Amino acid sequence: MQITDPFELILFGGLGDLARRKLLPALYLLHRDGRLGEGIICAVTRQQLDTDEFLARIEQALQQYVPADCLEPQHWQAFSARLRCVTLDLQQPEQYRQLQQALSSTDINRVYYLATGSELYTRICAGLHSSGLILPRSKIVLEKPIGHDFTSAQAINAAVAEYFTESQIYRIDHYLGKETVQNLLVLRFANSLFEQQWNQKYIDHIQITISESLGVEQRAGFYDQVGAMRDMFQNHLLQLLCMTAMEPPARLDPDAIRDEKVKVLKALKPITGNAISENVVCGQYDAGVSGGKPVPRYRDEPGVTAKSLTETFVAAKVEIENWRWSGVPFYLRTGKRLPDRTCEIVVQFKAIPHSIFPLQHKNTMANKLIFRLQPDEGIRLQLCEKRVGPGMSVRLMNLSLNPQDMRKVRVPEAYERLLHDVLSSNATLFLRDDELLEAWRWIDPVLQYWQASERRPEPYTSGSWGPAAATLLLARDGRLWEENS
Ligand code: BG6
Repeated sequence: MQITDPFELILFGGLGDLARRKLLPALYLLHRDGRLGEGIICAVTRQQLDTDEFLARIEQALQQYVPADCLEPQHWQAFSARLRCVTLDLQQPEQYRQLQQALSSTDINRVYYLATGSELYTRICAGLHSSGLILPRSKIVLEKPIGHDFTSAQAINAAVAEYFTESQIYRIDHYLGKETVQNLLVLRFANSLFEQQWNQKYIDHIQITISESLGVEQRAGFYDQVGAMRDMFQNHLLQLLCMTAMEPPARLDPDAIRDEKVKVLKALKPITGNAISENVVCGQYDAGVSGGKPVPRYRDEPGVTAKSLTETFVAAKVEIENWRWSGVPFYLRTGKRLPDRTCEIVVQFKAIPHSIFPLQHKNTMANKLIFRLQPDEGIRLQLCEKRVGPGMSVRLMNLSLNPQDMRKVRVPEAYERLLHDVLSSNATLFLRDDELLEAWRWIDPVLQYWQASERRPEPYTSGSWGPAAATLLLARDGRLWEENS
């Protein structure tokens, strides 16, 4: 569907890593597919660039991050005509006036997208306010991580709320824009088949993995301060957990869904004190091989401090204290420089209570439902079937649902979906203030414990599945991570 309301989208951090890799490519693809409607995109940057240089930078980013067969000259021409560049120093409130010249004076569908560090959010809001740029229809998008702990997130929420009402604020977590995450909602709440089984009676445990083969790349300045817990776990992993575990919402509306997600976060069993070393593993990548090439250890990456204790891997055993999930562990992990870029939610059902067939290993024959978010999105249900031939031997077979194969369409990138939603004022897939705070409330004791105990992340070889302690976390419970099972 096309955005019907003409818009002005102002990207702070307009030529930064996120804008070049994800936001501008997503906007280009929306434009190319005729879904962007009418509007301009204004990139705010500190750099003094003339129009040619500015457009050349963006074209270069699109060449790098948009699939080659989607980059056609006529679409680029039309897209580039929508782009504006505004140079300003975000620290200088008087400079925000320069934005006025690029924007209309009327109250239209205007979105300020803050793709900068969250320490700048308050300052940017104040700058916009003092220049009279916040109007009743203006919206603001806040990128994660918002704050670095509960207190700072609370302070940011309060500061932004001085200038914008909650309904004008869109806290983005791009994992919620991934096609399979929305399919998870449909699969769970549009089919009666799974609801009966979606609880502790039938599910043994759930694993959620987000693995990346990339290292820290050019983002050491940001990442070395943040680490995997704040960069991936506090937001992406906990959001996937909420979408998997939440109760059926009463309606498909933003607050009904957010209410259910908040309930899950509130029901997370706190991990504190000694339980932290037992249930949370953190690691840092060592030198190794990735994509067939030797790669350096994290501490030798450009921009990383030589004695950095920043974690590039986290795995945790998480429990939800409610009727549905009592006794069902959720094993969550994420890391950089792992063997592949994947994201999967694996729902492992319990084994049948008694088998009449000659099963070799009861657990490996239990059903599994696997939601794969990337690289190829799809859903797989593992069932048992008879092996063809004499005898009654049983094996696992996969029933697969792959949207790309089935519909022969390009699966849109998460940011396409979410930018379209913001421009159309649909907040369903964005976080509410209390949701953000509940996630920090649960994470905070772990971060504080790590800091107080000066914990050292366990080294793991680049190209492996993380530190040995992560394998032990499941082995202790008689289980294996999915890639080993
Ligand atoms: C971002 C993190 O939120 O997600 C990055 O800041 C990470 O460190 C990225 O690389 C992964 O996103 P995706 O969609 O490529 O899995």
